[in-house]
Amino acid sequence: MPGSLQGKKILLGLTGGIAAYKTLTLIRLLVKGGAEVRCVCTPSALEFVTSLCLETLSGHPVYSDLFSGRNEVKTEHIHYADWADLLVVAPASANTIAKFAHGIADNALTTLFNAFDKTVVMAPAMNTRMFRHPATQANLAQLREWGVRVLAPASGDLACGVQGEGRMPEPEILYAYIEWTCRHLSAASPLGMPQEASFYRGKKVLLTAGPTVEPIDPVRYLSNHSSGLMGCCLSDELSLRGAEVYLVTGPAKVRPRFEPYRLIPVQTAAEMYDAAISLWPDMDIAVLSAAVADYTPAEVSEQKIKKDSGQLSLELKKTQDILAQLGKDKRQGQLLVGFALETENEVANAKSKLERKNADMIVLNSLRNPGAGFAVGTNQVTFIDRQGRIKAQELKSKEEVASDILDYLPSLS
Ligand code: CTP
Repeated sequence: MPGSLQGKKILLGLTGGIAAYKTLTLIRLLVKGGAEVRCVCTPSALEFVTSLCLETLSGHPVYSDLFSGRNEVKTEHIHYADWADLLVVAPASANTIAKFAHGIADNALTTLFNAFDKTVVMAPAMNTRMFRHPATQANLAQLREWGVRVLAPASGDLACGVQGEGRMPEPEILYAYIEWTCRHLSAASPLGMPQEASFYRGKKVLLTAGPTVEPIDPVRYLSNHSSGLMGCCLSDELSLRGAEVYLVTGPAKVRPRFEPYRLIPVQTAAEMYDAAISLWPDMDIAVLSAAVADYTPAEVSEQKIKKDSGQLSLELKKTQDILAQLGKDKRQGQLLVGFALETENEVANAKSKLERKNADMIVLNSLRNPGAGFAVGTNQVTFIDRQGRIKAQELKSKEEVASDILDYLPSLS
């Protein structure tokens, strides 16, 4: 059976970073997927991995020296740029990112980048402080602006011995991202950005996901069965479409496959409210898929509540409604999407929710539909929008539902 990348021509750029060891696995995956892979290295990349290793895995000579007599054709950077469908730079170091962003062409890879007018995928990998440095952030913003598809680095153990943001995503994650990109390649668009996804490119999207946890005392809490899967699927689909995802999530059971642009973990409805409200003025879109507690204990006991002989009553107070507040604060041009989980009079209730909370669209789940709602991998939803349309969807995986929601949203702006 042909692989999902059959016939695709991929230039793989490597820069000097320890994550280059993961790129070796990526080459194997790409070749197994049917792609033809050619490697382009900066001099520092070859301090971490050898030409022999890359040549053996890709089955082709490595391009690393602009002036070597060994090069097959004289203007190799142009030749390679013409040949490839896609340029993937993984790992992309702070130094090379800076050169790309300033048009510096001083080695084989940077020169090739300058000559490349098709789709570029970039996986920055470096120490957290280097990644967060305003220079690196400004350079990445510039590259995104030009249409480069930048994967947010993952968090975890870094080679420098600290924990933090800056890890290159695992080869399987990179492969999935490249595979999606190849499926949506469009030669016609500037820098080859996938055209279908252009609505979300560079848009800032606030997502809420997962359950909230409302403490009763130091050991107990009130919560719900939300797995956070719907929010993760939305986050992944938005990352693939080039959006800047700000994911505010309660303690969900799952994590997005692709690192969101910003992940803001919260526990309580109040924390989720504060995070969402402060982000909203800068956002273009908000999709609120979280199952937010409607009530929280009026007081949190400092000590563990001891059992007594009789019944225990808990006094609860209402939480603030995030969707309603974002609806009140909404400015011209912002799109606001809420979810509604109903058990009766579904459409009427969802319509009134849309009105009351000033949303542009409500994604209605009915718990009466088998396979819909919490803690399952599928969902059967109905889109209800402010133009009065009611569109019932079929039972689908949550990935497909996420993709359908994002396909539908542009029709509201
Ligand atoms: N929501 C919110 N903040 C809350 C409660 C809910 O932002 N404090 C959001 C949810 O994320 C969802 C939408 O509001 O997008 C609807 O949630 P749902 O629980 O179905 O509705 P409620 O507003 O709680 O209304 P009701 O309890 O009347 O069904």
